[in-house]
Amino acid sequence: MTVKHVFVSTERLSPAQKHAINKLQAECFRRVTRKETRECFFAKSFGRVLAYESDLIVGQAELFSRQVYFLGKKVLLGGVGGTCVTGSARHRGIGTLLVSSGLSILRVRRCDIACLNANVRKYPRGGMYYRLGFRLMGRRVSFEDVHGVMRYDFGELFLPICSKAIYDSVMTSEKTFHIGRGYW
Ligand SMILES: CC(C)(COP(=O)(O)OP(=O)(O)OC[C@H]1O[C@@H](n2cnc3c(N)ncnc32)[C@H](O)[C@@H]1OP(=O)(O)O)[C@@H](O)C(=O)NCCC(=O)NCCS
Repeated sequence: MTVKHVFVSTERLSPAQKHAINKLQAECFRRVTRKETRECFFAKSFGRVLAYESDLIVGQAELFSRQVYFLGKKVLLGGVGGTCVTGSARHRGIGTLLVSSGLSILRVRRCDIACLNANVRKYPRGGMYYRLGFRLMGRRVSFEDVHGVMRYDFGELFLPICSKAIYDSVMTSEKTFHIGRGYW
């Protein structure tokens, strides 16, 4: 069956789309606790790429962009989060399609680099993300949680989008990269 994908900005999501996405995320992210989502993964996406098979949503990816500073320079940081595909539709390239289409949108928005959080315990090099060009950062990143507490995390993957120079400086510096308030 053919899979179609569409970008929908956050404010244009219909109630039916929101309902289908909640169901899909409940199925796909059982390992992430509600507490963790509330405290850490609360960044607001500007839109989503939705994958449709007939009129059913079978996958989605959320897109983020925010300005941060690194080594005193402005960086437009893009992100892809919450990528998921319903169990029965996996291993057919839909996840790859969602992320690559999300990256095209981040390019149009002129993001310098993109980053995401992946299950590196199961996929040490990044699995699907590695094949799309993402590379593992060798050091931890920081972000601020909902309580304003600084948290640190290993296993982030980065990809150059509009600026290879910024990507190189972020990846090779010894300074902790700060993602900002809330993660995806
Ligand atoms: C990750 C996920 C979106 C992939 O969807 P998909 O449509 O099967 O993706 P594709 O067919 O394009 O690629 C499949 C490949 O991605 C890789 N992959 C699977 N899960 C992955 C993950 N969590 N992270 C990175 N790569 C992954 C595998 O190498 C897989 O190869 P295989 O088909 O030979 O097993 C899907 O498995 C899913 O929804 N998982 C549960 C939610 C989740 O963990 N999301 C990722 C958050 S970072």
